[in-house]
Amino acid sequence: MGKDVIIACDFASAAQTFAFLDRFTQERPFVKIGMELFYAEGSAIVRTIKARGHKIFLDLKLHDIPNTVKKAMAVLSSLDVDICNLHAAGGLDMMRAAAEGLTRPDGSRPLLIAVTQLTSIDQQRMENELLIRRPLEEVVLQYAANAKAAGLDGVVCSPLEASRIHEACGKDFLTVTPGIRFAEGASGDQKRVTTPARAKELGSDYIVVGRPITGAADPAAAYRRCVNDFID
Ligand code: C5P
Repeated sequence: MGKDVIIACDFASAAQTFAFLDRFTQERPFVKIGMELFYAEGSAIVRTIKARGHKIFLDLKLHDIPNTVKKAMAVLSSLDVDICNLHAAGGLDMMRAAAEGLTRPDGSRPLLIAVTQLTSIDQQRMENELLIRRPLEEVVLQYAANAKAAGLDGVVCSPLEASRIHEACGKDFLTVTPGIRFAEGASGDQKRVTTPARAKELGSDYIVVGRPITGAADPAAAYRRCVNDFID
């Protein structure tokens, strides 16, 4: 898979999601389904969106003991999604077990990527609450290296971390980056934001864009603007 724009479909119901997707008459964007929509609508929403021709990043961020994650990933692999994820904090054995569980009988599997540190965790919280007393960037790079060692395909990270991660883990190790805004847009709760064009310069492989597209008066036009700035 090459560079792409993934739309974060952070909606509460299937009805809202389809009302949104129906506004794309010419293209079938790559979409991200997160916990809210998945827990509200179950696996049927994944199958229906897939049947409509979209690629899917199923953003459920699994984190449990290796055996449990392996079995859960086996269930997710039957949904035929394109990208799944988990928390690198679950450790190497959990990540290896996840990749095994996700692998279908024919040897294929969706891409599997790891969350390193959530962007809601800053240096102070990491030190005071999690008792990890190392620079945040070092922790992110170590978790990315662990994900690579476990055979994963990449990480979710800030575009600002993408080049360091590519340097450490190789250019084929995927960086999937949220925190994207148009230069003139509101940043909302995202602290460190980057434009699609800047994410391209920084070497992101996939950008995840939510509100700048879902909240736009013309979502298809906002999506095309992202594609133009990031890919073309
Ligand atoms: O609306 P916005 O563009 O901020 O949406 C970004 C999406 O990426 C949301 O679904 C959010 O949960 C997700 N995300 C993030 N930061 C991370 C991991 C995921 O913003 N570190």
